Amino acid sequence: MIFIQLTGLSGAGKTTLASNVKAMLLKLNYKAEVIDGDAYRQTLCKDLGFSKADRIENIRRLGILGGVLARNDVITIMAAINPYESVRQEIKSQYDFVHTVWIDCDLETLIQRDTKGLYRRAMLPDEHPEKITHLTGVDDPFEQPENPDLIIDTRKTAEQESSQILLEYILAKIQQHFKR
Ligand code: ADX
Repeated sequence: MIFIQLTGLSGAGKTTLASNVKAMLLKLNYKAEVIDGDAYRQTLCKDLGFSKADRIENIRRLGILGGVLARNDVITIMAAINPYESVRQEIKSQYDFVHTVWIDCDLETLIQRDTKGLYRRAMLPDEHPEKITHLTGVDDPFEQPENPDLIIDTRKTAEQESSQILLEYILAKIQQHFKR
């Protein structure tokens, strides 16, 4: 049983890595699922915004889903910003099969990539109609994980290699589980 809770800023590569690794696991005949923050904000978490309370509630709901999937032998990767250490610890303490993986990337690189245009919008003047506020890492907190099980820095490590690192981490944990 394995439930990976990713954590990292928007654009760091969480969704990309999670979906790459899911595809690799399916090829190896494992059951695998990605719980993507962006996607579930359209359905299960539609009522939630980006306040601290709402982000905590978001992760709690996704965590429940992850726990259910993982204990039914689906390798589960939760890809959400997951910015608060207390909630990450809470999820980890609920099950002994949770692993925290920090998808790290410096803000300067994220601003250059800006795949969704969010960083540009966060830096617009206040009166601009496209302006957004409370963007994690810009004007909303991202608490650095205190003792992550794995850190992947996507500025230093390219997509294919990052995906391989995460896949191998998961496969090693599965092996350890069966040896127990
Ligand atoms: S979390 O903080 O509650 O874990 P989650 O991963 O579900 O966040 O959603 C983050 C996604 O929402 C981002 O990838 C981005 O597409 C979108 N988003 C919109 N506004 C914001 C914002 N102010 N801060 C962070 N993400 C935002």
